[in-house]
Amino acid sequence: QSTTEVDISKIEPGQAIVASFRKQPLFVRNLTPKEIGEADAVAVSSLRDPQTLEQRTKAGKKNWLITLGVCTHLGCVPLGAREGENRGPFGGYFCPCHGSAYDTAGRIRQGPAPKNLAVPDYNFTSDTVVTVG
Ligand code: FES
Repeated sequence: QSTTEVDISKIEPGQAIVASFRKQPLFVRNLTPKEIGEADAVAVSSLRDPQTLEQRTKAGKKNWLITLGVCTHLGCVPLGAREGENRGPFGGYFCPCHGSAYDTAGRIRQGPAPKNLAVPDYNFTSDTVVTVG
């Protein structure tokens, strides 16, 4: 099993990048304080796949949302990680295949997808490098 190193030093708040992890797209997003606030404002018990933003990020690094870019419905690549793409009604990611909408924590909020975007195993190996896998 191979690991992937991602340089996060150039990702400004509000931006994301698309990297690659084991041949799948990997979204690395630097959430703004507003986006963090939106995620935290949601009643977790109302979610289809109940998880807090804390559970989906590392302690002290809540702004770094790292997920696979693979819709949990049928595997399309959601929009929203690249500049100018439609992030959908919940401000996270939007899958154009059948309309699944994810929020700023990458949690499924609307549409047919059953699960939140998957969070892979990863660690911060420095302030600017994340090692995934
Ligand atoms: Fe994403 Fe169907 S594959 S909504």
